[in-house]
Amino acid sequence: MTFDILDPRIDTYLKQLNAKHDDPVLLAMEARAEEHDFPIVGRLCGAFLEAMALTIGAKKVFEMGSGYGYSAWWFTRAVGPDGTVWCTDGKAENRDLAEQYLTEAGRWDRVEYAVSWAQEALMVTEGTFDIVYNDVVKDQYPDTWLLAKDRVRPGGLYICDNVLWSGRVTDEGYDASDSSEAIRRHNELVFADSEFDAFILPVRDGVLVARRR
Ligand SMILES: C[S@@+](CC[C@H](N)C(=O)[O-])C[C@H]1O[C@@H](n2cnc3c(N)ncnc32)[C@H](O)[C@@H]1O
Repeated sequence: MTFDILDPRIDTYLKQLNAKHDDPVLLAMEARAEEHDFPIVGRLCGAFLEAMALTIGAKKVFEMGSGYGYSAWWFTRAVGPDGTVWCTDGKAENRDLAEQYLTEAGRWDRVEYAVSWAQEALMVTEGTFDIVYNDVVKDQYPDTWLLAKDRVRPGGLYICDNVLWSGRVTDEGYDASDSSEAIRRHNELVFADSEFDAFILPVRDGVLVARRR
């Protein structure tokens, strides 16, 4: 069973407050998502990702599951001209679209985009990151957390989308699917980890932020 995580009236109100973002590239990316039913993180969570990155002065962001660059539109703005956003996606057509959009936005030079499994790309990229952002297929969430957590610098953030899964992680909404089971397991692992302080923002489909101590 699925249900609205946020009261639709609150969702509308928050979107009204965020209406100031009228960059034509952002609007075109949002229109594409609407037209092709592509699951971008959306306006409210995008603005939240940017705020999180700005708050910790992030310069190095590793995205796992970038699609055509919508979440990277926000992260590339936050990291500034001397920052880098590592993007990953299994589909080459998403990379090409990301290049098109983020070039138009004037920020493609801040992006390193690997067409590959995000987990493999993370393993071959050295160092730690200010933010590791997880938006891969849901049944991979527990393993992706275990891989990603050591790559977040102390004081940095692990951020993960869709952690409330339209309510299917709750006892009432639980559907016993592989994805729901994996997201529940993932959330339990993150909250149980003594090295991280975790919180879930119940906006859209739920965004988890865990700060490494
Ligand atoms: C939900 S979409 C979100 C895209 C982006 N984060 C945004 O908000 O606009 C997830 C994307 O991750 C890609 N993906 C899923 N699992 C992946 C994995 N393990 N490695 C690389 N890409 C993956 C999919 O092809 C899809 O384009």
